[in-house]
Amino acid sequence: MPGTPAPRRLLVAGNWKMNGDRTLAATLCAAAAAAARAAPEVDVAVFPPATLLEQAAAALSGTPVAVGGQTCHGERDGAHTGALSAGMLRDAGCRSVLVGHSEVRTEQAQDDAAVARSVAAARAAGLAPILCVGETRAEREAGRAREVVERQIGAVLAGRPDAADGLDVAYEPVWAIGTGRSATPAEAGEVHGWIRGLLEGARGGRARILYGGSVTPDNIGGFLAVPGVDGVLVGGRSLDPTAFTSLVEAARAAAVRRLADRRRP
Ligand code: PGA
Repeated sequence: MPGTPAPRRLLVAGNWKMNGDRTLAATLCAAAAAAARAAPEVDVAVFPPATLLEQAAAALSGTPVAVGGQTCHGERDGAHTGALSAGMLRDAGCRSVLVGHSEVRTEQAQDDAAVARSVAAARAAGLAPILCVGETRAEREAGRAREVVERQIGAVLAGRPDAADGLDVAYEPVWAIGTGRSATPAEAGEVHGWIRGLLEGARGGRARILYGGSVTPDNIGGFLAVPGVDGVLVGGRSLDPTAFTSLVEAARAAAVRRLADRRRP
């Protein structure tokens, strides 16, 4: 269709969190590579723990699967024991990095300003950041979900008219992470609509908005049937090679459907 921008490519991202050893990493990388090769219509990325990054980057080099870090510090280097800079991730073979995951925000007391610095550091190092946002159960019950998500995104976009250029966002309601209780596709779609509104004002038309929180092969189809959902960020099920392969296959089916819908007059 002349003048219509190409649709955003769906992304399936696996966040291994603090799990895995060399043996599991080899298995997961082989499965991700095979799944991605069989699904050229979608993007696939894995986010191993720091000790496995180089191994994963070597195993996945020459495949369509991107490797990313799970967090990065906002500074380039210095006296920050235990931390990793974006440049170090890049040096280890990463192309992407999760920033502001709720577990990092909570366990490492990372506030919105620190998240914004990490996003800037990721970009400066040439990494594609995925900004993670989401409200807690108490915030949702208090009717504050929109305010919280808009504040988290606003901190990153603040004062930069092109701040959403090259950014992807993952909406992960905290109450849905690792609980087996995902949001409904309608709940995800509503929040994705709010986020899209913010991003478009900051040149974020190409930015993908993922859903994360208890995504499984059984429920992924419901999320990807929502037009505003551009992929998934998966924790638990990304550690099972069979489940991760099924997630990539389901994303491929959704991508093929979306392309066919666009071609329909
Ligand atoms: P989960 O984790 O799929 O285990 O809920 C998602 C995430 O935290 O990225």
